Amino acid sequence: MTPSLALARPPHALFEPARAPGLTRPISLIETARLMRRNPMAILPEALFETTRLSGPYLGRRVHEVSGAAEMKSILQDNVAAWRKSPLILRMLTPILGDSILTAHGESWRRQRMTLQPAFLKRRIDRFVPIMAQAGCDAAQALLGASGPVDVHGVMNDTTFSVIEQALFSDGEGFDRSEVRAAIEVLLEEIGRMRYSDLIPSPEWTPRLMGLGALKARGVFRAAADAQIRRRRALTDPGEDLLGLLLSARDEETGAALSDRDIRDTLMTFIAAGHETTAIALTWALYLISHDEACQDALRAEADAVFGAGQPDAQAVPKLVLARQVIEEAMRLFPPAPILGRRAVADTEICGEPVRKGDVALLAFYCLHRHRALWEHPDHFDPDRWSPQRRPRDRYQFLAFGGGPRACIGAQFALQEAAIVLSLIVSRTRVAPAHGEVEPVMQVTLRPKGGMRLKVEAR
Ligand code: HEM
Repeated sequence: MTPSLALARPPHALFEPARAPGLTRPISLIETARLMRRNPMAILPEALFETTRLSGPYLGRRVHEVSGAAEMKSILQDNVAAWRKSPLILRMLTPILGDSILTAHGESWRRQRMTLQPAFLKRRIDRFVPIMAQAGCDAAQALLGASGPVDVHGVMNDTTFSVIEQALFSDGEGFDRSEVRAAIEVLLEEIGRMRYSDLIPSPEWTPRLMGLGALKARGVFRAAADAQIRRRRALTDPGEDLLGLLLSARDEETGAALSDRDIRDTLMTFIAAGHETTAIALTWALYLISHDEACQDALRAEADAVFGAGQPDAQAVPKLVLARQVIEEAMRLFPPAPILGRRAVADTEICGEPVRKGDVALLAFYCLHRHRALWEHPDHFDPDRWSPQRRPRDRYQFLAFGGGPRACIGAQFALQEAAIVLSLIVSRTRVAPAHGEVEPVMQVTLRPKGGMRLKVEAR
């Protein structure tokens, strides 16, 4: 039995990273558009850390900014049928992901969710532990190989990319990994780059113009994915990786298989939704522990007790208790998806307050996670708040993975991967800050502006 490594400390002993400053005055439409393009975090009002809802007009629509647990539940769970993902995010995602589980709604979404859910059962995810552990060892190696401070965000991106790529295509035969990786980076960049034209309300069917580079990259990815699908369909056993599971997945009601196009869009969706988000969670976790030596020591002691000089296996993963708490705390302070947008497609309500069809809701997870009324010392890094005695009882108080029927399908995959990679890194290295404050900027995900440089040395 692994010792429980509690890390309860008084607030003055806890690291307090800087918080993105909230808006304290009304701003013009032009300034809103400029901030939205540069860093949408900058439009969050300071008041949202204390109140739970602010409503007002924006370009002829009513916008409801919410930061309370009950309001989140009202939108994501209780009245979910009245809300759709925001047209802005759909315009940015659909040209690249198609009508996939992330962008679809109604019956198309329901069928995809039911068909894909079994691929994320615990026993399936357990098969990916060796891939995740190897990626963690490679990450530690890469961090130690650099001379001087190293951009951990870049290394974490490589790490989580390698995990998702191998989880999707385990053999990689006939597959130019570096060409596909380069194409995917271009596509993810395209998804994350907001243009002024994206901010002008327009009918949902209006196509978003893509740059030539992105069109070419989309072609490269589609051709590579199609070739893999054809090659695997020709085999008698489709395999146990995610591509194999997609090929053998059947709709529970009709028995129908996924089409090649559905599979290709799903592959791209898993990469887009699962690679950068997990890399971001790990990056902020490393930043936070770089300022907290006691936490690093406790994580190292946990790793030593659980897997020593080796690597964790599937039985070891549930014992990485503190590593998981650190990841949850990092995602509370820096949620990889800090704001979600929704649009009402019918008249509805938020906690009893009427909402008209066409109104917009901004779900500010960043403010929910640091809300003055919900958390003790909300801006402090305190992994112990996730211990069984202290963890929040209300599921809607922590929404790093979203909530309700559209909550993240890959949450357990991501938590397992992040705990394994973090434990392996701390078991082999020591991390320390290389410079002062780091500014979080939102480009769909909450990234550290200009990367995240840390000093890394062998333990
Ligand atoms: C730390 C890592 C991750 C974070 C923070 C995260 C966060 C989220 C959030 C907030 C949503 C809800 C979006 C919405 O309601 O509009 C979501 C949905 C989704 N995520 Fe994740 N995610 C992570 C990892 C992953 C991984 C590893 C995968 C797949 C391998 C994945 C696949 C998906 C998919 C397919 C959806 C759409 C689910 C649906 O609409 O039914 N995510 N994720």
